[in-house]
Amino acid sequence: MTDRYAVIGNPVAHSKSPAIHSAFAQSTRQAMEYTRIEAPRDGFADAVANFAAAGGRGLNVTLPFKLEAFALADATTTRAAAAGACNTLKREAGRWHGDNTDGAGLMRDLTVNLGVALAGRDVLVLGAGGAARGVLLPLAEARPRMLVIANRTTAKAFALARNLAPLVQCDAAGVDELAGRDFDVVINATSAGLANAAPLPWPATLFRRDALAYDMVYGDEPTLFLRWARAAGAARCADGLGMLVEQAAESFAWWRGVRPDTAATFERMRPRRG
Ligand code: ATR
Repeated sequence: MTDRYAVIGNPVAHSKSPAIHSAFAQSTRQAMEYTRIEAPRDGFADAVANFAAAGGRGLNVTLPFKLEAFALADATTTRAAAAGACNTLKREAGRWHGDNTDGAGLMRDLTVNLGVALAGRDVLVLGAGGAARGVLLPLAEARPRMLVIANRTTAKAFALARNLAPLVQCDAAGVDELAGRDFDVVINATSAGLANAAPLPWPATLFRRDALAYDMVYGDEPTLFLRWARAAGAARCADGLGMLVEQAAESFAWWRGVRPDTAATFERMRPRRG
C-alpha cells in the first residue's frame, strides 16, 4: 500500500502543500500519496484518529490546529516545544510524534534563498501570536544585534521577549513605541490585512536603507504588507512562499529521510518573485 500523508486544516482547499509534496515525491522517487483533509473546527482529534486508523503516516497541520496538534502529540521535538505548536506529525509505532518546521523553513528562506545574514543586524518581528512563536527561537539563535518583537497587544510581546532574553538582546514594543526606530529586516507574523482592509498600524519609518521586508503570508499578488512596505521604502520584499516550500522540505525529510531540492519546486510554484 502507498504511504499516506495529508495536510489538515480549516479551510484547506487552497493549500499549496499537496502540489509541493507531490513535486518532492516525484523528484526523490518516493512512493507516497498526499491529500487534503478539511477537519471541522471542533473535530481535529477525530479526523487525526481516522487518518491513523486508515494507515496514515504523517500530517502537515495548518490553521487553526497547530496548538491542538501539539497537545495531541505523544512526543515532540525541542523546537516544537519552544513554539508550543506543531505543524508536522509523524506516525511511528502507534504514536504521534510532533515537530515544528516553520522556524527552520523561514531561516532557510532568509539565509539560503534570499542571502540575508542576520548576525549583527537589527531584526523586527511584527506579531506575537502562534505564527511569531514558531519562528522566534531560530531567529534569536541567528544572533542578531537586536531582536524586537512588536505587537498591538503589548503584553504578549513582552512575554515572548522575556523568554528570549537569555539568548539575544531582545526588546518588546507596542505599535506606538516603534515610532522613530528602524531595522534591517522586518518580518510580518501578524494576521493583519488578511481579514479586512483596515490600514496597517505601524509607522512607515521602519525600513533602513537596503532593508528586507518579509511577509510570512503568501499570495499570487503582492500581499497588503509588502505593498505597504514597498511604499514605506523597503528595498527588498519577499512573501512566505519560500518559507512554505522550505518548511515542507523539512517535514518531508523528517518523514522520508530524504531532503528534496526546494529551488526547482519553488520555481514551479511561482516563477517570479517581487
Ligand atoms: P497566528 O497563529 O496567525 O499568529 P494569532 O495567534 O491569532 O494567529 O495571532 C495573530 C497576530 O496578528 C497577533 O499578534 C495579533 O495581534 P494581537 O495579539 O494584538 O491580537 C496580530 N493582529 C491581527 N490583526 C491585527 C491588526 N489589524 N493590526 C495589528 N495586529 C494584528
